[in-house]
Amino acid sequence: MRIKLTFVPGLEVEFVDREMSLKKMEEWARESTRHPQVVFGPEGCGKTAWLRQSAVLLKELGFHVIYVDPLRKYFEAYTDVKEVARRLADAAAGVLGNARAWLATLAIDLTKLLIERMKKKVAVLVDDVFQAIGLNEAALYVKALLGLIEYPPRSIDAIVAVVATSEGVTRREIGRHRWAHLTPMWNMPRDGFRQLYDKLPGEKPPFEKVWRATGGNPNLLAELYKARWDADSVVKELLREKRIKAFVNSLSDAERELLRRALDDPDALFTREGIPLMDKLVDMNLLVDTLPERDPRFWAGEPPPEKDLGLGIGKDVAWQTPLHREAVRRALEGS
Ligand SMILES: Nc1ncnc2c1ncn2[C@@H]1O[C@H](COP(=O)(O)OP(=O)(O)OP(=O)(O)O)[C@@H](O)[C@H]1O
Ligand SMILES: [Mg+2]
Repeated sequence: MRIKLTFVPGLEVEFVDREMSLKKMEEWARESTRHPQVVFGPEGCGKTAWLRQSAVLLKELGFHVIYVDPLRKYFEAYTDVKEVARRLADAAAGVLGNARAWLATLAIDLTKLLIERMKKKVAVLVDDVFQAIGLNEAALYVKALLGLIEYPPRSIDAIVAVVATSEGVTRREIGRHRWAHLTPMWNMPRDGFRQLYDKLPGEKPPFEKVWRATGGNPNLLAELYKARWDADSVVKELLREKRIKAFVNSLSDAERELLRRALDDPDALFTREGIPLMDKLVDMNLLVDTLPERDPRFWAGEPPPEKDLGLGIGKDVAWQTPLHREAVRRALEGS
């Protein structure tokens, strides 16, 4: 069953494509996640949509599923253990105090409860939890999930634990420990993105143009749609939101030169002099670094192309989307 998602206020869209990402979830359902899977990717690439569709998929595969999105104080529970939904609802309503922290905590506690109640197949999907609980707690949270996998209170047949994040900085923090598996997700592949584009009503620019601006990022597609396809205003919003001008003004001449080169080829930052600057751009969620080989085994879904400098994708480093790169270009030109 395909879920319905609010694409922009007033426009619902059915979940499209992402066949390989859903295949990956099926694989995890079959083999269990031996470590918590931390899935990271560009902002707005579709992680939440995929997790929510996956919750339904796992339910159809016979799992008892808990999905929480602490930032938005939202949850879904697919289980006949009534207590689970009740306690999540209380937490989301703030009955216990800080709703975000409680939802994050309960996701783990209630998965444990499901196992204690002899449920043999359980899944816990946690969205954007690191922003909700803070960087210091992120690694410990993942470790608690690992504990559930390694020492379940009763024997189980299958367990799936997945956490999604768009924060580049948490990825580095999590990566220092060996408590989780980090798996990247990319923007949508061209065909799937085309299906989404086709669903939008009204007059729109040619697909090719939209593809080259967004690189397949569904959130930017939504932003462009809301802005009546005025890419200029979307770039300006990115510039403001991420305070890119202030950042560029803080750079030395040498760093600015490096940044200029990275506009043409982001791999220019994957060098001794480039890495400090690259890390800052990753923290600002403008770049993704250390991209693995483009083998589907290493990706939650369709990998990006090997290299596509038009879209800002290098071998090791990529701009989150072409419009993110465009925002940086403007700031550089104006400085
Ligand atoms: N496969 C899809 N089918 C239909 N709509 C999608 C799909 N993927 C994403 N969308 C829509 O695109 C927008 C952005 O997706 P989503 O919120 O899932 O991204 P995200 O990676 O979770 O973003 P963030 O980094 O902000 O958490 C949403 O409106 C979502 O409903
Ligand atoms: Mg999300």
